[in-house]
Amino acid sequence: MPNQIVISTLGGPEVLKYQEYSLPKNIKNNEVRIKQTAIGLNYIDTYHRSGIYPLPAELPFCLGMEAAGEVIAIGEDVINFKIGDRVAYATPPIGAYCEIRDFPEEKLIPIPDYISDDEAASILLQGMTVEYLFERLYKIKKDEIILFHAAAGGVGLIACQWARSVGCKMIGTVSTKEKATLAKEHGCEFIINYKEEKVSNKVMEITNNQGVPVVYDGVGKDTFDESIKCLSTRGLMVSFGQSSGMVEKIDMHKTFNPKSLFYTRPSLMGYTLNRKELINCSNKVFDKMKKGDVKANIYKKFKLNEAEEAHKTLQSRKSSGSIILEP
Ligand SMILES: NC(=O)c1ccc[n+]([C@@H]2O[C@H](COP(=O)([O-])OP(=O)(O)OC[C@H]3O[C@@H](n4cnc5c(N)ncnc54)[C@H](OP(=O)(O)O)[C@@H]3O)[C@@H](O)[C@H]2O)c1
Repeated sequence: MPNQIVISTLGGPEVLKYQEYSLPKNIKNNEVRIKQTAIGLNYIDTYHRSGIYPLPAELPFCLGMEAAGEVIAIGEDVINFKIGDRVAYATPPIGAYCEIRDFPEEKLIPIPDYISDDEAASILLQGMTVEYLFERLYKIKKDEIILFHAAAGGVGLIACQWARSVGCKMIGTVSTKEKATLAKEHGCEFIINYKEEKVSNKVMEITNNQGVPVVYDGVGKDTFDESIKCLSTRGLMVSFGQSSGMVEKIDMHKTFNPKSLFYTRPSLMGYTLNRKELINCSNKVFDKMKKGDVKANIYKKFKLNEAEEAHKTLQSRKSSGSIILEP
């Protein structure tokens, strides 16, 4: 029987349990059966595990939103995939932390020959996030200075490379010297180690007291107030995650009125609403990789039965780049 990681109660990494399961006897007409070879670990998995996001399924459930593998069987109505195809996905339905699963054809992405399964599973969700953040939510421009928090993280290192490829001068925040070096090597123009310098002071120094037109903030609680201080008049605050915890109450008037700011709280799902958007988005990531503008950064590969350790690593802030699980 295949194995998966299941949670039966919400909580810390210790609630992740490795268990056998049985596959459905019949594949649904519109689904593809995938033998998975690499699973992407994302911060959202920790929100589902701890319960800070609404439950994506009834307990007990198998966690995970991203994986790559090979098609081993197809439902009767499947037209775009055949047995033997290499495929990946980075959307719900959740349940990626397993060896074999069925997944709807509609949300499946073919992996190009020049990308390995490990690369696909490590970059698809985070890369598509950078695509919509930088190309569609707000289009970053050549020579423009922007602020991006956690620049050496999974999403962050892709953002550094994407910004460099556009000629955009990214200011990235990091917590250590090692992360600063890494972000710089990946194309981040200015680095702020927030343990040593106050972020808003440094941003104002870099921008001649103008502030930045956009802040991408995936850290949340600990960075929100500083992010607002860093924005220029009519700037855009993009809250796209909360690795430090949820931003609690905001005084709308006091926060946004003095500089006539804009605010958005986007999700990748909102920017991949249908198959056309999903394929356009993933193709843009693959194109950047083909050109050599963006490379996958796999910090560490854990065995599927080490998911607990992998979650601890991500949440300990020790990792840089992406983490994958090997079924
Ligand atoms: N909205 C969307 O569409 C979307 C999609 C994908 C990801 N996300 C969000 O993007 C963010 C980054 O995701 P990721 O998977 O690439 O994670 P990550 O950036 O690799 O890891 C989180 C990083 O956040 C920083 N951090 C600051 N305070 C922290 C704290 N108290 N606890 C933990 N980390 C803290 C750490 O970097 P330093 O040590 O340098 O501070 C840490 O390495 C997450 O918030 C995630 O939810 C959003």
